[in-house]
Amino acid sequence: LELWNYVVECLQVLARCTHIVTGIAWIGASFYFVWLDDHLEKPAAEDLKAKGVDGELWAVHGGGFYNPQKYMVAPKNLPDRLHWFYWESYSTWLSGVVLLLLTYIYQAKGMLYDPQIYSNVSPTAMGFSVFAILATSWFGYDAICRFFAHREKLVTILTVSLIVAVAVFNHLLYTGRGAYLVTGACLATIMTANVFFVIIPGQRQVIQSMKRGESVDPIYGQRGKQRSVHNTYFTLPVIFAMLSNHFGQLTGSDHRLLILFMMMGAGAVVRRYFVLRHKGVASPWYWILAILLVTLSFVLASPASLTRGANVDGSAPQRIADDVALSIVRERCMPCHSAQPTLVSLPPKGLVFSDLSSIQLKRSQIYEQVGVTKIMPLGNLTHMSDLEREQLSEWAKP
Ligand code: HEC
Repeated sequence: LELWNYVVECLQVLARCTHIVTGIAWIGASFYFVWLDDHLEKPAAEDLKAKGVDGELWAVHGGGFYNPQKYMVAPKNLPDRLHWFYWESYSTWLSGVVLLLLTYIYQAKGMLYDPQIYSNVSPTAMGFSVFAILATSWFGYDAICRFFAHREKLVTILTVSLIVAVAVFNHLLYTGRGAYLVTGACLATIMTANVFFVIIPGQRQVIQSMKRGESVDPIYGQRGKQRSVHNTYFTLPVIFAMLSNHFGQLTGSDHRLLILFMMMGAGAVVRRYFVLRHKGVASPWYWILAILLVTLSFVLASPASLTRGANVDGSAPQRIADDVALSIVRERCMPCHSAQPTLVSLPPKGLVFSDLSSIQLKRSQIYEQVGVTKIMPLGNLTHMSDLEREQLSEWAKP
């Protein structure tokens, strides 16, 4: 079992690296095409107009000059070699699912949900509930876009409401960390499903009608455009959610649900600013709104010690004795980090605390996890108080 766990950890490394690289390729291409679309200018040259070019621009990059041209609907003659962009999206989603299986589903107990609350639910069922939520989000969103195809405002309002409902549901079912991640995964699934079920099939339809010499129905282009605009606004919220397991102070906060909404909202607002800026519209208000949302989130997540104004005289908090540190670790860490843990099935990362020497040996790691990143105790499932956190991190400080 030890070996098996180690193999899983190594696979996590591979899946995470693949996921990040493919994600960069996908988001990079997607940002580039949004930028491109927004910077195109009507061509002046007669030969371009005659060819049906609707917009073009000049760019310089990596020692060469580039001159992309955009054709509205399609060019008169299909080129022999046409480049498609979909593997970036599919491989990001697929590697994300593998990573989800290896982390939050394989170790669902403690990582995904709090076994103290859902004590009689099977960890497997809890783990696989994630897939039901991913599927529900997509079908709900897709239905909204189809039923209200031409009422963009209504689609926006309903989509935001759907995301809020999904986040609340995840919040009730999972730990803070799990809920943030699954909510992000729901949005990311919608993004990839948009590419897989709507955008790419639409492009294939257009090409088929062209090959048959039929006139092209503009509905495919319109549908694809709507979904791709939505994807643009989902990108930053998804990236925030995907990185959130490094932000223990946010995912562990009592206000974590509100903070999730505000941080995701800030992401969408920042994206809006850039989309408008590409079009030459400067709207600094979007920045101000984003900064307000982020600041408010940080204030809401601040530990009680900051709001209480502890140690205003600048004195260091009293250093606790070794046996007090051990008793904090026993109560707040050992439910997971011990040879026979109660909150997880196996001690995470093989990290076992038993006596004073075992915690002294891991001092700097304890300081980092408890005092700096505040990721431990995971999801604060053991309800460590702010005072205990302060005391233990002061004790462990190198
Ligand atoms: C609810 C279970 C749980 C509790 C309680 C818990 N941990 Fe952890 N701990 C984990 C898990 C799971 C991981 C692996 C995290 C990961 O893979 O992201 C971990 C990892 C760690 C690591 C290694 C981090 C790394 O990235 O190498 C340290 C150090 C740690 N915990 C310290 C503590 C301390 C100190 C406490 C008590 C204050 C504590 N943990 C309480 C579940 C827990």
